[in-house]
Amino acid sequence: MANIKKLPFSRLPKAVIPVHYALEIKPNLKTFKFNGRVVVDTKVNEETDEILINSADIEILRASFNSVESESKRNLCSNITYHETDETVSIKYPQKLAKGDGKLMIDYVGILNDKMKGFYRSKFTAVDGSERYVAVTQFESTDARRALPCWDEPAIKATFDVTMIVPKDKVALSNMVTASFTDYRETENISDLKVIKFAKTPIMSTYLLAFVVGDFEYVEARSADGVLVRVYAPIGKKDQGKFALDVAVKTLPFYKDYFNIPYPLPKIDLIAIADFAAGAMENWGLVTYRETALLIDPVNSSSSNKQWVAIVVGHELAHQWFGNLVTMEWWTHLWLNEGFASWIEYLCVDHCFPEWDIWTQFLVMDSARALELDSLNNSHPIEVPVGHPSEVDEIFDAISYQKGSSIIAMLHDFLGDDGFRSGLNHYLEKFKYSNAQTEDLWESLEGATQKPVNKVMSSWTRQMGYPVVSVSAKHSGQSVELEISQSKFCADGQLDSSHENYEWLIPMVIANGSNNKQPVKIILDEKSKSVTLQDVKQDDWVKINFGQFGFYRVRYTSDMLLKLVPAVANKVLSPRDRLGLQNDTFALTKAGLLNTTDYLDLLQAFSKEDNYTVWSDIIGNFGSIISLMEYANLTDGFKAVGIELLTDIVKTLGWEMKANEKHTDGLLRSLAVLHLGRFGHTETMAEAKSKFAAHLDGTKAIDPDLRSAIYKVVLSEGDETTFNALLKLIDTTDLQEEKMRVMVSLGAANGEHLLTRALEFAMSDKVRSQDKVFIIESIARSGKIGRQLTWNFMKQNWDKLNSIYQGGFLLSRLIKGCLSGFAGEEFSADIREFFSTKSVPAAERTIEQVIESIELNTKWLSRDVSSVTSWMQNKNYIPSK
Ligand code: BES
Ligand code: ZN
Repeated sequence: MANIKKLPFSRLPKAVIPVHYALEIKPNLKTFKFNGRVVVDTKVNEETDEILINSADIEILRASFNSVESESKRNLCSNITYHETDETVSIKYPQKLAKGDGKLMIDYVGILNDKMKGFYRSKFTAVDGSERYVAVTQFESTDARRALPCWDEPAIKATFDVTMIVPKDKVALSNMVTASFTDYRETENISDLKVIKFAKTPIMSTYLLAFVVGDFEYVEARSADGVLVRVYAPIGKKDQGKFALDVAVKTLPFYKDYFNIPYPLPKIDLIAIADFAAGAMENWGLVTYRETALLIDPVNSSSSNKQWVAIVVGHELAHQWFGNLVTMEWWTHLWLNEGFASWIEYLCVDHCFPEWDIWTQFLVMDSARALELDSLNNSHPIEVPVGHPSEVDEIFDAISYQKGSSIIAMLHDFLGDDGFRSGLNHYLEKFKYSNAQTEDLWESLEGATQKPVNKVMSSWTRQMGYPVVSVSAKHSGQSVELEISQSKFCADGQLDSSHENYEWLIPMVIANGSNNKQPVKIILDEKSKSVTLQDVKQDDWVKINFGQFGFYRVRYTSDMLLKLVPAVANKVLSPRDRLGLQNDTFALTKAGLLNTTDYLDLLQAFSKEDNYTVWSDIIGNFGSIISLMEYANLTDGFKAVGIELLTDIVKTLGWEMKANEKHTDGLLRSLAVLHLGRFGHTETMAEAKSKFAAHLDGTKAIDPDLRSAIYKVVLSEGDETTFNALLKLIDTTDLQEEKMRVMVSLGAANGEHLLTRALEFAMSDKVRSQDKVFIIESIARSGKIGRQLTWNFMKQNWDKLNSIYQGGFLLSRLIKGCLSGFAGEEFSADIREFFSTKSVPAAERTIEQVIESIELNTKWLSRDVSSVTSWMQNKNYIPSK
């Protein structure tokens, strides 16, 4: 395993702690500096002559301490020492500060940076063509310290009074409602500035504080429970906020009811920010979003983007309780925030849009992703000790989010909704306005349900990885005896001695062909167990992990698997179970426990499949096989297989959206068209070209659901003219979603020349830093040529990329997204060599994961290439030699 270096770190001393901050901020949108004054009511717990707090990129002008007992004696600090790598500052006083209450006052200057963290600037072009700036905060995880010197740890909660001094014509927002407006007076004269004071916040963590200044307009509504909800958008775009407003207005009462606790603030604003590193941020009462995660155009937005907006809104609003009201004690428990929100966002979307079949999609977007990452030796446990900010950044990953949500889903199914809710309510009530650890949640849920929550769940949060459950069946008469055993699932299929001690408590649900109404529920709490099922016929299938709520894989004997195949083909099994069986088979294939041809054979059972999500998972897995086999030049055969798999879907759905068709039909159509086109299906290609031509000449706009697919398909066979036509489309729209749709289609371009142009475009000023990653990734994911070009390009531009993303999570995303698909020892060696001389603290684990993935691909390719070749030849997909 990796030798991950740890930077020295310790938490702040508690000798002096904050109770209330009065913060005054005066940003200058021309010099990109801001003046700040923070007056902190503190409690001195121990006599000390030093205050150590967080601060980064801040210049302190003056710091005084004024104890209550000696009001007259202002204690001016004598010495300020900045500790840059620790991101702290120590303020030393000539005398000891007496125990009790005291006021710390700091005047300082900070920078409105362009790195999307702390208090930063975001640039946009106004309707009149002029360049304008917005000033906005992004503090999670550890960047409040760039806006104010403070105790920047989640457990050091305090209340905040925010005051902003801003130009009169700008909108200024913060967590709370405005308490007063006054003119700002510079000496005697009234200036063109105003002073806005916001109401005092509840007691909260620093990372949730927020303020925004800029030109915005809004739409508003009141939720059924009386909360004022506004969606703020750049001037001219407020109507694009209506969809999110609708979702938010439905969501707040839903959560109020689910948690049985009202939303604690009088208002909530959702605001779209042009430059934004993450997707969205749950600042209490002022949630910030990327434009694409909030704004929907009724005519030009796709179903998948609507779905994304609903998910993100549902996620961030859940944090208002789970995260903001009750906060993790330390970043080690980050998953509590993110895992939980990533689960309940589905519950919320399912409530708002029951027809979207979102819980099936959960298996692809969450469980499958987590299962893949967590099978690596370089994964990490959900609860992971973290210290230095760079380590914190690194755990915003699929383990905290998607494994977190998946084990909550498993727990919810195990406890049942009633018990789960009442335990949840107990937890939120007990820890509100305070902090909690993972075990605290387990304890509340255990109290409410009398089930062994702590014991079961600790096995999932404290160990990395998850089990594969092997099962065999022995029939006798009307019963069947199952032998069930668990071991750690390793991506390479190898269990070395270091993995032998892993053991989980696995809540299991088992159904069979004669009884899928009342499945058997057990906990596998040892290495192996036998379970007898009654009234099972000789030919009946037995499905383990029925409903796919468990976070584990199942390995059946070939005999058992054979009996399941017809239940897949005739859809006796639900989409979730069909998907799960297929996904497990794929993972066992990749691990070398089955042959790739076994997986390809299983796909025959899906010839009548009609569920979008099942297809989406199959296409993803099938796509990884193709991209692997490209390194053995076996792509043609796979294209033929792919065309055979998908042709019927488009035949059934047609190219045109039907009135009242299902949301998922739109998603399925676009999935099928995209891949048929990319596989070179002649009719699809022709239809795509004709639709694109009509779109360009204005005869008929392409249905937004099909645009992405069609852009990519025409580009994959297109030339420079097509490429230029797409680039032009970017300038004809001010909908960020459409711009992104075009930009990430550039990776589909054909040949080195155009792919290089796409890379150059990504790095140009036309593309915001927040978006570059996604374009570059699309190029790397296009195949062998694009991947190699991208890697060369990354090496050449490394310093620039590193400086744009400041080593943050977008950089990890770039590394992972671009490089994991290589197959061949030369690539893993090259990547290791390159990074051996680079310092990327927040991506160290990611780099190890990438290298491990490439090594797995390398083995997989050499293991299966000949059997796959024969399989292709035997079935006449490729000519026999
Ligand atoms: N708390 C995060 C935002 C965040 C991410 C802050 C990374 C710091 C680093 C927020 O709640 C979040 O999880 N946003 C997601 C969207 C969500 C729907 C999964 C995101 O930004 O991708
Ligand atoms: Zn979140």
